[in-house]
Amino acid sequence: MIVALISGRGSNLQALLEAGLPVSGVISNRADAKGLAAAAARGIPTRIIEHARFPTREAFDAALAEQIDAFHPRLVVLAGFMRVLTQSFVTRYEGRLLNIHPSLLPAFPGLDTHARALAEGVKLHGCTVHFVTAELDHGPIVIQAAVPVRPHDTADALAARVLRQEHVIYPRAARWFLDGKLVIESGVVRVKGNDAQLVLAPD
Ligand code: GRF
Repeated sequence: MIVALISGRGSNLQALLEAGLPVSGVISNRADAKGLAAAAARGIPTRIIEHARFPTREAFDAALAEQIDAFHPRLVVLAGFMRVLTQSFVTRYEGRLLNIHPSLLPAFPGLDTHARALAEGVKLHGCTVHFVTAELDHGPIVIQAAVPVRPHDTADALAARVLRQEHVIYPRAARWFLDGKLVIESGVVRVKGNDAQLVLAPD
């Protein structure tokens, strides 16, 4: 049902698994990704496709798509997958490719979001699950969790509080998708049944 693409720790993958979501395959672009062990421990097939072995981004993405399609997933989730994907890859999975990003998009796309949020002095930070489009960390927003910034926050402390919320919203978004509840209208996502698309973290 779901194929998850990872590059590292795999805590979001773990959250999806703990929520009982039907992950039928996990693919990593790095052989040392810790998340592979969590999947294997549950008997979920894992594949490693090392991007460094491919001459071009296009060649890597083609190999990745081939592996993904072999699982016949309904949904593909990027769970800490640290590769920029080509336009043709994104088009192939349009409408069934989700990403989680550690900021309240469209603020702070890219890396080091927590340090950048602190440097800007924002009072509210958080995380976003969105459909993937060709533009990096951009696309119709499924759900966001808002996390207040504390006066003497550090990037690590803030990251940990945001990560806790990532583990709440990603399983919720994936479940909505599989239940056929997500509708995209003019680039805006609506959830059938009007389930809340905003989570407010208490602190
Ligand atoms: C998360 O912060 C996610 O939002 C970002 O990469 C990180 C992955 O963490 N895209 P994990 O591998 O799921 O623990």
